[in-house]
Amino acid sequence: MKGIILAGGSGSRLYPMTKIYSKQLTIIYDKPLIYYPLSVLMLGGIKDILIISNEETIPQYKKLFGTGNELGLNIQYALQAAPNGIAEAFILGESFIGNDSVTLILGDNIFYGYLDFLYNAIKTESPGATIFGYQVNDPERYGIVEFNEKGEAISIEEKPKVPKSNFAVPGLYVYDNRVIEISKNLKPSARGELEITDVNKVYLNEKQLRVEKIGRGVAWLDTGTPEALLQASNFFGVIEERQGLKIACIEEIAYKMDFINKEQFAKVISGIPKSMYREYLERIYATE
Ligand code: G1P
Repeated sequence: MKGIILAGGSGSRLYPMTKIYSKQLTIIYDKPLIYYPLSVLMLGGIKDILIISNEETIPQYKKLFGTGNELGLNIQYALQAAPNGIAEAFILGESFIGNDSVTLILGDNIFYGYLDFLYNAIKTESPGATIFGYQVNDPERYGIVEFNEKGEAISIEEKPKVPKSNFAVPGLYVYDNRVIEISKNLKPSARGELEITDVNKVYLNEKQLRVEKIGRGVAWLDTGTPEALLQASNFFGVIEERQGLKIACIEEIAYKMDFINKEQFAKVISGIPKSMYREYLERIYATE
């Protein structure tokens, strides 16, 4: 299973922050936003990760993560020259994906809670596609999935004016290798993008789409506006302070997932400047 983080987009709703740096690098409490989706892929057991972004931002991601080798990861980078849509990720990532399955996560999507259902979907590598449905208050802003009385998905629409349900499709998608071919055959939508919803419709029509409803105990947070960023920061701040545990701490995850051994973990820590982040990792090193 390969992983892709799509971290492009103009983030225009966050202007002027996004005048100087990409939305996925904005800070959520104590770390860059992209750490949160990256940690979801890592906890799903994925080590081969392609970060897709624009020309300006790729160097910044390289500075943050490099080859990923230190954390037992293989991180590669690809350029999305223009915002041509989410599904373009599979065309840009074709050689990276090779003959494997792929999980795509959007670089601004945050998931928190008991996510084993998500990690299992990633690990299972079933044929077809697995996506999720999450109840929201503002369904017209998202891809929306409609279910019949048996709980089966019967339609998917991108940002419908009159939504058929309140179940939004979050930005985490697990596909078999056919997604490359399907994406190549898409036509751009009215907004000029290769829509991920159109990919999902192909799988739905072929009865190859699983849509798992996400329960109410899981947080899928939005990061599209200043208010949403503040809320997400407060949310993680409250939990981290209460438990004394960090969320989306990629060095800790690499160690706990056995991507690196204790010796390698010590080396990672020694490269981190004196900070609360380092003190936290030292505490993890000493106790686990
Ligand atoms: C995209 C997808 C949409 C999905 C959303 C999740 O929307 O097109 O189907 O529900 O991500 O974040 P966009 O970010 O393009 O508005």
